[in-house]
Amino acid sequence: MKANGLLPYPRQVDWQAGSLALTGSRFDVNYLAARSERLESAVDRIEKQIWRSAEITSAGQPVTLEIHCGALGCEWPGLGVDESYRLEVSGVRIALQAPCEWGILHGLQTLLQLVTATGTLPSILVEDSPRFPWRGLMIDVARHFFGIEALQRTLDAMAFYKLNVLHLHLTDDQAFRLPSTSFPKLASDLSYSPSELSGLVRYAAERGIRVIPELDMPGHTTSWLAAYPEWGNERTEATRRFGVHHGCLDPTNESVYEAIAVLLGELASIFPDRYVHIGGDEVHPAWWSGSKSIRMAMQARALSDVSALQAYFNARVTGLVNDVGKVAIGWDEVLHPDLDSGVLVQSWRGATARDRVLNQGHDCLVSAGYYLDLFFPADVHYSFDPEAQEDALIELEDELTVDPRFEHVAAGMRWADHWRNKGSSSVSPRGSVVGGEACLWSELVDESVLDVRLWSRMPALAERFWSPVDLCDASNMYQRLTSSLELLGAGGIMDVFGSSAAFLQQAGVTDAWMPLVSLLEPVKWYGRLLGEQALAARLSGTEMPQSRPYDADTPLDRIVDGLFPESFVVRGVATLCERIASGDEVAMKELGDLARSWRQVCAQQDCPEELASLADSLADTAALVLDRLQGNKIDEAVLQRVGRAHGEYLLAIVPVLSRWLTGSKQ
Ligand code: ACM
Repeated sequence: MKANGLLPYPRQVDWQAGSLALTGSRFDVNYLAARSERLESAVDRIEKQIWRSAEITSAGQPVTLEIHCGALGCEWPGLGVDESYRLEVSGVRIALQAPCEWGILHGLQTLLQLVTATGTLPSILVEDSPRFPWRGLMIDVARHFFGIEALQRTLDAMAFYKLNVLHLHLTDDQAFRLPSTSFPKLASDLSYSPSELSGLVRYAAERGIRVIPELDMPGHTTSWLAAYPEWGNERTEATRRFGVHHGCLDPTNESVYEAIAVLLGELASIFPDRYVHIGGDEVHPAWWSGSKSIRMAMQARALSDVSALQAYFNARVTGLVNDVGKVAIGWDEVLHPDLDSGVLVQSWRGATARDRVLNQGHDCLVSAGYYLDLFFPADVHYSFDPEAQEDALIELEDELTVDPRFEHVAAGMRWADHWRNKGSSSVSPRGSVVGGEACLWSELVDESVLDVRLWSRMPALAERFWSPVDLCDASNMYQRLTSSLELLGAGGIMDVFGSSAAFLQQAGVTDAWMPLVSLLEPVKWYGRLLGEQALAARLSGTEMPQSRPYDADTPLDRIVDGLFPESFVVRGVATLCERIASGDEVAMKELGDLARSWRQVCAQQDCPEELASLADSLADTAALVLDRLQGNKIDEAVLQRVGRAHGEYLLAIVPVLSRWLTGSKQ
């Protein structure tokens, strides 16, 4: 495969000899069949992005862009629309053909991704269509609020990577972002107006993207209950704390269903998509099982336990969703023998949940393996296939739990225990996987770090959801990831690298200390959210202390907030180690030079206080590298010390060097 910025990589690419020099003037655009305002605006946008990204050096002939669109789409994109397209660049002609508008939109993005820095397009034939019809991104706008502009920018980047669903998690314990006319006390200080949301839905549709709203219930509803205490059977207060709360809607109270019906009606007037997410995750049983009147109501309805009670609630709410002409989606806790077969279930608690969903005849949207809030590198998410079979997932888990990058959290990365302990539960699946959805829970994300946190890894998932199943070479993906992020910046869509650099400067990192900072990563999994003590307790299975380092008001303005979840500089060193392992002496010299440069960085004055122990550790790491290069055995106690988590930071260089440093063959 040629080095390029194509991501997701198309189903079929025929690279041909020659290239087309762009002229810097406008394209000559010919619409050979259907034509719409949506297509014209998309062409205009892409043209601007192309001229912006390409450094035009030659004044060649005019370039013709022929658009052959078989049919216009409906007003709104929907699940399962035809997204295929064919793109050919030959001579001075670009021909883009698709059965439907949605495919033309994707083909234009491919065209943008093909522009080289010197303003040429390769001669090429691309034939492309997605593997899955649902390629989503969930953003939790409740724990932190993201303004409309940030969401529009996100939609632009989603379009660039051919993602087609934005799922907005609009409500949670800490906030309710949907203003309700009928229940005005619900909306938090920061919320979206109906016209802002309608505008966002239209903006998305112009890019072929559906927007799915979520009202998470009956748990995660403290914000509802703080405003309307009568919807619960106990009292609670507004909260800024994270973690599972006890507050729950009372499923035996008819006024709760009346309110939900009204809210769904209001939602339906804003969001045209056929699907509405009703949440259903992490319902704490304390309020329900502690209430005599709820227990009596359960008895009267022959509901044997709280899970049957939740199933009763889900059945009522699903019916209300159907009443407004829509289909419900729920997190995998909604799975129950009584669940209406039309409900789409979103699996997040591992692939065993996915298989139970499929076996019970529901279609499944897969999010397990795709939680971007956990700070895992792109290759980890990339390695989870939405349809992977049990043995492949067990093997993957085995690999990840011995990967030195995750040693500090390995005990928490066990997702296949159910299979290991109970054996395979698979019968023939009756439902199908409709696709995948990455989730960005926002406890540790606000608008200032959104772009960096999302897009340093999301493109890998866009490829996982779009491209053929056998495209799984992570190092090739990383090359295209970096190129495509550069293109995203050059086209004026989003400057991920610039955004991280500006944030870090604001957080007090001077140029002199960037070489250290570029080797750091945040600790993985729930390390930051739990804090050191609670993390240690959770990993060892002992009782966790109550206190947590973060709540919804904690400023996210420290160096750790602006770091890429994975360091691309460190990936470069990993490649150097691979070359050394294959006997490349030039690579050994390069690593020696690097280690000496690290020593120099650490010898400087005025290290930001937060990084002092990391600077010491980098100096120690440099010494270990130089020792090893001289053929000496290294002090493994030092390696252990520099490699462990330093508060919320990892010196990410250590895990990638560790196997070479210790001479381990693994
Ligand atoms: C979830 O992560 N609670 C769906």
